[in-house]
Amino acid sequence: MCGIVGYVGKKQATPILLDALKRLEYRGYDSAGVAVLTDNGIEIHKTEGKISDLEAILPDIKGLCGIGHTRWATQGAPTTLNAHPHVSGNIAVVHNGIIENYQELYDELKGEGYEFVSETDTEVLAHLIHRYYKGNLVDAVIEGLKKVKGTYAAAFLCGDSEQMVAARKDSPLVAGLGKGENFVASDVTALLKYTRNVVYMHDFEIVSLSGENIQFFDFDGNPVKEHIESIEWNIEAAEKSGYPHFMLKEINEQVTSVHDTMMGRISELTGDVLLGEVKLPREEIRKLERIVIIACGTSYNAGLLGKYVFEALAGIHTDVDISSEFRYANPVLEDSTLVISISQSGETADTIAATKEAKTYGCRTLSITNVVGTTLSREVENIVYTRAGPEIGVAATKTFTSQLIALYLLAIHFARIRKKLDVDRSKRLLVSLKQLPGMIQQILNNKELIRKQAIRFSTARDYFFLGRSLNFPIALEGALKLKEISYIHAEGYAAGELKHGPLALISKDTPVVALATRASTYDKMLNNIKEVKARAAPVLAIAGMDDTEIEKYVDAVIRVPVTDELLYPVLISVVVQLLAYYTADALGCSIDKPRNLAKSVTVE
Ligand code: AGP
Repeated sequence: MCGIVGYVGKKQATPILLDALKRLEYRGYDSAGVAVLTDNGIEIHKTEGKISDLEAILPDIKGLCGIGHTRWATQGAPTTLNAHPHVSGNIAVVHNGIIENYQELYDELKGEGYEFVSETDTEVLAHLIHRYYKGNLVDAVIEGLKKVKGTYAAAFLCGDSEQMVAARKDSPLVAGLGKGENFVASDVTALLKYTRNVVYMHDFEIVSLSGENIQFFDFDGNPVKEHIESIEWNIEAAEKSGYPHFMLKEINEQVTSVHDTMMGRISELTGDVLLGEVKLPREEIRKLERIVIIACGTSYNAGLLGKYVFEALAGIHTDVDISSEFRYANPVLEDSTLVISISQSGETADTIAATKEAKTYGCRTLSITNVVGTTLSREVENIVYTRAGPEIGVAATKTFTSQLIALYLLAIHFARIRKKLDVDRSKRLLVSLKQLPGMIQQILNNKELIRKQAIRFSTARDYFFLGRSLNFPIALEGALKLKEISYIHAEGYAAGELKHGPLALISKDTPVVALATRASTYDKMLNNIKEVKARAAPVLAIAGMDDTEIEKYVDAVIRVPVTDELLYPVLISVVVQLLAYYTADALGCSIDKPRNLAKSVTVE
C-alpha cells in the first residue's frame, strides 16, 4: 500500500512531511516524494529508493503547505518518474489505490492534448483535476473523481492557494486536526506526533484544509458533520491499526485484498477475465499442452490449487514442482510448456533460479507475484500482480488468498479462450468470486468460535489437517501456518492417504482438522472422518453453512458461507489462518516474527 501525507499550517511543511512519511515506512515502499507550495508555485521533489534518498536531494524548501508520498508500486516500475507526486499544470496529487478505468481516462485526456510522462495510473488524476479546475479546488476534485472507477485515498495541492483537498473511496484516509494546522494521512501512525484528534473519513467524502479551517463535504458538495476521534494508541499499535499483530491485521485485510486482486479484471457482462498484463497470444493459449508451476512454501500450496483449476476448467495438464527440487532435477519441458512461478516476494532464490532454468528450455514464462520491480518480475514475460499490498507478518496470509484468486482468474481466462468454459458457467463463477470478500467478512465475524477451538487444542503436540481434491492444498497450508507460528508439529494430508500410513499416528491426542465442504468427494471425506473418530481423535470440521449432517460425526464445526465448490479453498484458508493465529497467541509465540524464519528466503 502507498502512504500519503499532507500538512498545512504555520510551520515549514517539508520537515513535517518527511517525518510523517517515515512513520509510514513500515508499510513498505520503493520510492518517495513531496510537493510543497512555495512563493513560486508548487515545488516537487521525488526519487526511487528510501526517504533518506529523498532527503539527500531536497533543497531548502520554504512553504507552509505540502503533500508527500511513499509508493508501493502496483502499476509502473518503481522509478523516479513513476514516483508521486504527479503534476498537471498547477495541480499536484498523491494517491493510494488503483484506478480501474485508467485506460479510458488516459485515452480521453491524451486526446485533449494532455502529455503523460509516467507509467502510473495516478497521473490521470492530476490531469483530470486540472481539466476541471476553474478556481475552486473542491469543485474540481468532486467533478474529476466522479469520472473515476477504482479505489483512492488522494490529496491534491493547487498552486493558486494555500489550500489542500483530499478524498477517499475504498482506501483509508484520516484527517488530523491541530492548533492552527491540519493534516491528512493514510493512517494515524503518521499524525500521532502532531495530533491525536482525527477524523476517519468515509467513502465519497472530501476534506478541504487550510491552516485555520477544515471542512468536510460529500460528493454533491454538501457539508458533512464529522465525528472527531481521540486516538489513545501508541505508535506501534497504530502501525497495526490497533490489531495486536500484523498477521491478524493482514488476515482481516483479506476482505479488501481479495477484492483488489479481482478489481478491473472481471467482466460479468461477457463472463470474461481481463488480464491485459498477460501478453500470451490467444493462439498460444489455445495450443498450450502443459503448465508447470514452480514455487516454495505457501506459494507452492497455492500452486497445487492451480493444478486443480487449470485441469478442471481449462483442460491443461498441469504439474507443480517445489522450486528447490525443480532446479536440480532434469525436468522434461517443451517450448509449448508454460512455466508459472508463484512468489509473493519475487525474491525467493530457489524460485528465481528455477525460473531461469525453465527459460533455458525455451518455455513461455509467467509469474504471479505481489511486488513490482523484483528480480523475478524481471525474469519473466508475463506477470499477474496479486495487489495484496505489503505483507509484514512472516507467515503469508492475504498474499496466499490473493494468489488463489489470481490462479482462478488465469484458469478462467485460459478456459474461455480454449472454449472449455461456457459463458453461463463462467458468469456464475465470476459472480461467486466477487461475493468472496463479503463471505470472508462473515468468517471474520465468527472468529471467536475459531479462537475457542484453537485454545481447546493448543496443547496438542501433533495436529493433522485432512482434505481431498481442491481442499488438499489447503490442508497443507493449514498445517504450514500452524507449524510456522505455533511451533506445533502438524501434517497436511490427502484424506485418502490415511490408510497408507498416517492412520498409525492417529489417537485421542492428535486433533484432526477435516476440510469437509461440499464437493464430489464429500462422502469419502465423511468416511475419513469416521476412520479417525474410530481412533478417538478429536475432529474439528470446516464445513459449509448448509451442511446439516456433519455435526453427528465430529467434535466441533467451523462453518463457512456456501459458495461454488471450486471457491471453498479461499474461505477455508481464512479459517485455518485464524486457527493457527489463535493457537500461537494462546501459546504466547512470536507471531509476526517466528523463530528461524524470514519473510523472504533470498538465499538457497
Ligand atoms: C509462508 O507463510 C512462508 N512465509 C513461506 O513458506 C513462503 O511462502 C515461502 O518462503 C515462499 O515465499 P515467496 O512467496 O515470497 O516466494
